[in-house]
Amino acid sequence: MLKNILVGICGSIAGYKSPLIIRELQKKDYPVKVMMTEAAQNFISPRVLQYLLRDEIYSESFNSYQNFKIPHIDAAQWADLILISPASANTIAKLSLGISDNLLTSTLLAFQGPVLIAPAMNSKMWENPKTQEHVENLKKRGRVIIYPETGELACGTTGSGRLAELSKIILEVEKALTPPLLKNLKVVVSAGGSCEYIDQVRVITNLSSGKMGVSFARNAYLHHAKEVSLVHSPSVPPPGGIKSIPSLISDEFRKNLEVEAEHSDLLIMSAAISDFKPLNPVSGKIPRKDNLSLNLVSNPDIVAGLKKKFPHLFVLGFALETENYIDKARQKIKQKNLDMILVNSLQSLNNECADAWLLNNQGEILCEFKNTAKNIIAQRTLKIIADQLST
Ligand SMILES: Cc1cc2nc3c(=O)[nH]c(=O)nc-3n(C[C@H](O)[C@H](O)[C@H](O)COP(=O)(O)O)c2cc1C
Repeated sequence: MLKNILVGICGSIAGYKSPLIIRELQKKDYPVKVMMTEAAQNFISPRVLQYLLRDEIYSESFNSYQNFKIPHIDAAQWADLILISPASANTIAKLSLGISDNLLTSTLLAFQGPVLIAPAMNSKMWENPKTQEHVENLKKRGRVIIYPETGELACGTTGSGRLAELSKIILEVEKALTPPLLKNLKVVVSAGGSCEYIDQVRVITNLSSGKMGVSFARNAYLHHAKEVSLVHSPSVPPPGGIKSIPSLISDEFRKNLEVEAEHSDLLIMSAAISDFKPLNPVSGKIPRKDNLSLNLVSNPDIVAGLKKKFPHLFVLGFALETENYIDKARQKIKQKNLDMILVNSLQSLNNECADAWLLNNQGEILCEFKNTAKNIIAQRTLKIIADQLST
């Protein structure tokens, strides 16, 4: 069942972004309630949020006082997670000191679950040693700080203190609600299709969208992997929170993967690296002509090479086949010395969903996915890998 999220809003100009955060959480089906400080109501009307929620907002004038409910206890018991966004310097200081002089700070004192704090303020306020001291103090007490970004601020200056991107805030909420299956593990994921130069303008490539790899990288991050690096083709948008290493040609993929794999525990090799490349890429641009023959040579097998070089790595290989899926997957496991393989059908290419089979290094089928969202495939596969790594 999805967890209850209480969004606390403080008196910051970034309050105008709160409806977007609430909408995004609602789209993901989380039950959401909102609590506003007095100052927050100067920046965004409670009415907007009431209409979004189709519910009353918790505030100093919350009318359940009339029903003899105790709102801060009520809210603290209802919530599974509290997100304070935007968090003002004032509320951060109060939380650090344990002050409870309004509904939001009282609720936080009464709440024992995960608290995420997304500060937003002028850069001088953010960089003030007192603010930093309070942030450190809250961090030490297990509060998750969603650090602000550097950029244009509402006060007209440029600097640190801008509320973190919406996608980053949502990612951190989901992470806080996801079991830490990959804690202490470093994960490297490859995604997208490689290119090979024909001349300095043209390339040969493939239709891999990188969606499977991005789903794995995102889910590894959500399951609290110590570090996630994504070696990806430049057309693949990397999710937030993840080390992004854009790579174009297969040789770049290989070199970048070698650097990352050396210090990683788990390799998810979902990129479609070209099996062939032009023997002699032409310098400059080949002029238009009626016929052109390309002489292709095979590329080195990157995943087999990585497993050989770093035998400690747990390697999940990928295959895309058009027939005899299981037999071909079993052959690849042996040829490349893989720990597991996920074999996909052709329909999976550049699609949100996939037909796929997960096999272990004995060639046994561990899981079968029929037209399943790549996000779900990534979640289930990572759970199976985590179980295997922990035994
Ligand atoms: C126009 C204006 C903009 C403000 N923007 C911010 C802000 O972005 N971040 C912040 O921490 N405080 C900001 N403040 C100050 C807070 O609103 C003030 O400290 C208030 O007491 C915060 O109360 P709260 O923590 O109970 O919400 C702003 C004040 C004004 C008048």
